[in-house]
Amino acid sequence: MTNGLHLEALKTIQSSLTSPEFLNNPYPFYDKLRSVNPICWGNSLKYPGWYVTGYEEAVAILKDTRFQNRIPLPQTSKKYEHLKHIQNDMMLFKNQPDHKRLRMLVSKVFTKGVVEYYRSYIKETVDGLLNQVQHKKIMDIVSDFAFPLASLIIAKVLGVPAEERHQFREWTVTLIQTIDFTRSRKALASGNDTTKMLLVYFRELIQKRKQNPQDDLISMLIKEEQQGDTLTDEELLATCILLVIAGHETTVNLISNSILSLLNHPEQLIELKENPSFIEKAIEEFLRYESPTQMTARMASEDIELNGTTIKKDEHVYIFIGAANRDPKKFIDANVLDITRNPNPHLAFGYGSHFCLGSSLARIEAQIAIHTLLQRFSNFQLVTLDPKWRKLTGFRSLEELSITFD
Ligand code: HEM
Repeated sequence: MTNGLHLEALKTIQSSLTSPEFLNNPYPFYDKLRSVNPICWGNSLKYPGWYVTGYEEAVAILKDTRFQNRIPLPQTSKKYEHLKHIQNDMMLFKNQPDHKRLRMLVSKVFTKGVVEYYRSYIKETVDGLLNQVQHKKIMDIVSDFAFPLASLIIAKVLGVPAEERHQFREWTVTLIQTIDFTRSRKALASGNDTTKMLLVYFRELIQKRKQNPQDDLISMLIKEEQQGDTLTDEELLATCILLVIAGHETTVNLISNSILSLLNHPEQLIELKENPSFIEKAIEEFLRYESPTQMTARMASEDIELNGTTIKKDEHVYIFIGAANRDPKKFIDANVLDITRNPNPHLAFGYGSHFCLGSSLARIEAQIAIHTLLQRFSNFQLVTLDPKWRKLTGFRSLEELSITFD
């Protein structure tokens, strides 16, 4: 490994992190970077930092609390006040002790057992959505199926009336851009405006639930807030908004990416259709193969030595989850889709103290959605052979995925 090769690979990735080639298929770029060094310095994102593409290195960082979470917006700026304040109160960007306190409250609702309670509602919702398209023989998986499904489920869990959830599509599409590393000033400005609207919406809803509690997450959090001083008003609002974003965006991507992966691997589609009991393993493989969250970030709270590299205090670290999940040192035939892969210790839901709280819910939604689609319909074909990916580096997200079927 020479310095020249190192620099050349870095230059390639630096000029390409938002290129159409990268967006279409980031994996060759990840492979190149990893083969030079699984931790290397780069400056193609807004803030320069360490690009981590190796599995072991990603795990080491995610489990080390000296690598801290922080909100991605500059704290000194007077701009984007609403967005900054709300992100500041989200557990995703908090460290101990606040992180533990907030996470404990919400995790009570996201246990496997509680999520199982939603299974029949998810199945009913999936069937209802498929009934609406079955005679048309064509649908956009993103807007006709994955998005309304994720939206109806998170609305149900949170306690948002189903008829009010339509506005969430635009809101979440805008907000996800504010936490992506490609975000522009325009995206931040519209994210700030959207946050204002979400604050008005949730303040009203919280007020209604205070007067008339229901069997939902918002009412439960209000009860916690009223019983002790464990949750502030602002944290309650931030938690609702975090769950809306997290509950929509990544689950939609998991369902759409799974279907695209199957259509690009017809032999695996047949195998899954003939062996429905493979569904759990198949979803794990889709999570690994086209990880909905491709990247997360941390900042070093002190100088840290990792596999011969010194990461200095206050330096940014970008963990490319999508790359770690294709590390050949960890996964045999890492670039091959294998719906029977076992074991499959992917990092799609993160690792360590911030491990995804919604993983059980997302898994059940995806399992029921894909299983039901394959059992009810057949002869699936892509309408466009090359579906477009959204311009995000942190998320693997299709703009649309139109398919025909019988
Ligand atoms: C396929 C779907 C999903 C994927 C791939 C995903 C991925 C992730 C990842 C990678 C993290 C860790 C981020 C980090 O360490 O910086 C995370 C955290 C989180 N996710 Fe998910 N997520 C999904 C679905 C959901 C759903 C459905 C919900 C809620 C309804 C949810 C709620 C959360 C929350 C609250 C956190 C923050 C946890 C913390 O900071 O302690 N996620 N998710």
